[in-house]
Amino acid sequence: MIIALAGKGGVGKSTISSQLIRLLSRDGVVLAVDADPNSNLCDKLGMEPLGSVGELRNDIVNNPDIVPAGISKQEYVANHVRQIISEEGNVDLLVMGRPQGQGCYCFVNGVMKDCLAKIIPVYDNVVIDNEAGMEHLSRKTLPRTDAIVFVSDPTRTGIKTASRLSGIVDEVSIDAGRRILVINNVAGPADSLLSYAAELGFEDVFLMPHDEYIVRSAVESECLDIPSDTEFGKALAVLAESLTGK
Ligand SMILES: Nc1ncnc2c1ncn2[C@@H]1O[C@H](COP(=O)(O)OP(=O)(O)O)[C@@H](O)[C@H]1O
Ligand SMILES: [Mg+2]
Repeated sequence: MIIALAGKGGVGKSTISSQLIRLLSRDGVVLAVDADPNSNLCDKLGMEPLGSVGELRNDIVNNPDIVPAGISKQEYVANHVRQIISEEGNVDLLVMGRPQGQGCYCFVNGVMKDCLAKIIPVYDNVVIDNEAGMEHLSRKTLPRTDAIVFVSDPTRTGIKTASRLSGIVDEVSIDAGRRILVINNVAGPADSLLSYAAELGFEDVFLMPHDEYIVRSAVESECLDIPSDTEFGKALAVLAESLTGK
């Protein structure tokens, strides 16, 4: 199951991604893809990145001699991508890193895409924490998804933004699978937001409550492990169940 999370900054993508990764990792190995250069997914998971796809790509573009004679770029990338994946328990972490700089990236992007397309299906579940612009999805560096979870704050403006992002997915014709709207950080009645979401065409909508545990925890630590018996933990379990069908 390949699940991508998308939404504007600060709506809770990394919070939900990290907890979904923790939950799914109880059943098998999960590939956590940090596709937001400004993200803190690693910190929330308490993991150390070992490098990034962006650094690897820049190394090859800026210093082609880095690839030893007799080894194809394909082989070089395949070996090195494996080396930058950090592992802890049932979670493997892949960091995409900064977007590309100046220079000719087409070839290396193609190589990278092929390499990721081989790695990703090996995992039981893949969770991709995207940045607001969804660069890796729209450039198709990352493959098709089974579900995209658009995360919004509990405002009409947020839901409109999520709908716009869903429109971008249509424009770049990503094979997205199921589209889900998660309205996060809900602290009051949500009926009006739910009808607005329905008006904008979202049929699959989940609410995640505002959780004081998350607020308190963020003061004490960057790592986040929300207990399953909190309201947020229960809502997350409902979302995970719907996503995986388990
Ligand atoms: N349900 C929630 N209840 C309380 N605080 C939340 C909730 N979801 C997210 N937050 C807080 O909101 C902030 C932004 O969340 P984050 O997951 O980093 O957003 P994003 O990855 O979309 O930029 C963080 O400080 C996080 O602790
Ligand atoms: Mg984030």
